[in-house]
Amino acid sequence: MTAPTIQENFNLTPYTTFGIAVKCRYFAEYSSVRELEAILRTPEYQQNETLHIGGGSNLLFTADYPGMVLHSLITGMQLYRKDAETAYVIAGAGEKWVDLVNFCVDHELAGLENLAYIPGEVGASAIQNVGAYGVEAKDCIFKVEAYDRLTHETREFTAEECRYGYRDSVFKREARGRYFILRVAFRLRPGTEARNLTYGPLKSLRERLGHDPDIREVRDEITRIRREKLPEPSETGSAGSFFKNPLVRKPYYDEWLSKQWPDMPHYPVAGNDFFVKIPAGWLIEHAGLKGARVGGAEVYPRQCLVLANAGGATGEDVRRLSDEVIHTVYRKYGVALSPEVNIITSQIEVKVLGTGTSRGVPEIGCRCNVCSSEDPRDNRQRASVLVKTSGLTLLIDASPDFRRQALDNEITQIDAVLLTHSHFDHVGGLDDLRPFCEKEDLPIYLRPDVASDLRKRLDYCFRESHYPGIPQFRLNEIANEPFRIRGVKITPISVFHAKLPIVGYRIGDFVYITDAKTVPEEEFEKLEGVDTLIVNSLRRTEHFSHFSLAESLAFIERVKPRQAYLTHLCHQMGTHEDTEKILPPNVHIAYDGMGIITRKVR
Ligand code: EPU
Repeated sequence: MTAPTIQENFNLTPYTTFGIAVKCRYFAEYSSVRELEAILRTPEYQQNETLHIGGGSNLLFTADYPGMVLHSLITGMQLYRKDAETAYVIAGAGEKWVDLVNFCVDHELAGLENLAYIPGEVGASAIQNVGAYGVEAKDCIFKVEAYDRLTHETREFTAEECRYGYRDSVFKREARGRYFILRVAFRLRPGTEARNLTYGPLKSLRERLGHDPDIREVRDEITRIRREKLPEPSETGSAGSFFKNPLVRKPYYDEWLSKQWPDMPHYPVAGNDFFVKIPAGWLIEHAGLKGARVGGAEVYPRQCLVLANAGGATGEDVRRLSDEVIHTVYRKYGVALSPEVNIITSQIEVKVLGTGTSRGVPEIGCRCNVCSSEDPRDNRQRASVLVKTSGLTLLIDASPDFRRQALDNEITQIDAVLLTHSHFDHVGGLDDLRPFCEKEDLPIYLRPDVASDLRKRLDYCFRESHYPGIPQFRLNEIANEPFRIRGVKITPISVFHAKLPIVGYRIGDFVYITDAKTVPEEEFEKLEGVDTLIVNSLRRTEHFSHFSLAESLAFIERVKPRQAYLTHLCHQMGTHEDTEKILPPNVHIAYDGMGIITRKVR
């Protein structure tokens, strides 16, 4: 067999629909499992992070991709007629979605016609569960055949095993990055009778035609509407809907939103009375953002749910516009939007939420020069950080000041919590995470001893039958080895807080360590090549369980990060201004609310 072709420094722009200039380090395509396996054996695959793309219609790169990008060329569509009620189409993951819809319409098979003119490929659509006009891909997906990159075996997922939700599946969550989709089997109904005509524009089509439109008429009408409302990919870059339509608690909608904005559209959520769904496009438009721009990125005026490349946009422009949209909508309505698009970034954004030791600064009752300082940087809430990368938002530690921190920093999303240890100043805010566990249990990653402490201390959260509205957590016990959250690698670093073993975390080239007094020799190899380090530094004099300033500086000197920030300070450290003066040039004191951008993800 010939060796697979791996292209280097490859131009990805034609493989994405945003039309943004972007390259990847390596690129490889395969048209069979054998070719895929050959790629998996190459050093380029084995030594780099990897990303599998489909039609690139749901991706935003904010910078060149430093690893290997894979793309399926597995094509082919076969039709199996079973009986008068059922037919199956098996399509290769690399087939264009529009070609699949047209194939079904041309063969008089009903089911997918409402999903006409959606860009992208079959494999990615089965991961993303694309949807439009009252139909989702999952309504017709029968089975998904996938290659497991861990076991090197091919396996089938039933639609149930795919655990489909709104623009969601197991392949975007627990199994993220593990499987390569090879083929998807769709179950369709022979005939030309359309599957779902309930959506407004299709009802008006029926009125205009004077009869129930057939699948061809539905496909053509939806193609026309999409062409009218959404940017034409060959002319204006975009990724279709940039945000998901948010779910909002029904009481909040009934008691506040619907009274303030009686025209706000809202839809019931199938099988869930607790939420209503609000169109993000409406919220964005009515927040005054129609046509809003950052650099070359624009809120598309004809459909505000779309962020478009109005000319020369960079990925960073689109990301910054997305942040502006999220924050403006949140300030106006208190509704958190989250992107539907996968944001591939090589940056990590850190928001320092608190930098104080267990008593905070000022300490209650203390009148020292630090506690009475007017410099806001001398006001230190209990230590915690928020880390954002690749569309994932992680909270490290939930301090007793979390509620204030969430309000001051307008935290709209938390996907998971990483805990360093169970001392109260690091977990006292867990109960305030309730707004982030309403839609699903919030995963918390922690040592087994911390899990057992929490089960005792927050016993009300872990009882069989619980009081409505309490926080819902899913505890994931970790060992001292790397794990992944939605594809992002997290490396625990074991350190000692006096004699207590606790955890620091490495995410890409960012490391957060708090409450350390000693770092075992064998953990230093995990600290190689660190770009940004945040580490605890209690005060100038020694302490039995925390690094003093001299100990933190010695640790930083050994790790040699590009930049380091000190956290978990007590008032005896001195004022921010005085202490900054005595630090080496690459070391600074962190302060509450500080934002740090760190370089790359490995
Ligand atoms: N609206 C506005 N302003 C806007 C956009 C929408 O007020 O700028 C209002 C509309 O008037 C309407 C409501 O919001 O009352 C819903 O709008 P629309 O019917 O266009 O649907 P959508 O919720 O904006 C979703 C999908 C689309 C899909 C359409 C049609 C998501 C994230 N998006 O959009 O999917 O085509 O429904 O079913 O669920 C895609 O995923 O790329 C995509 C285009």
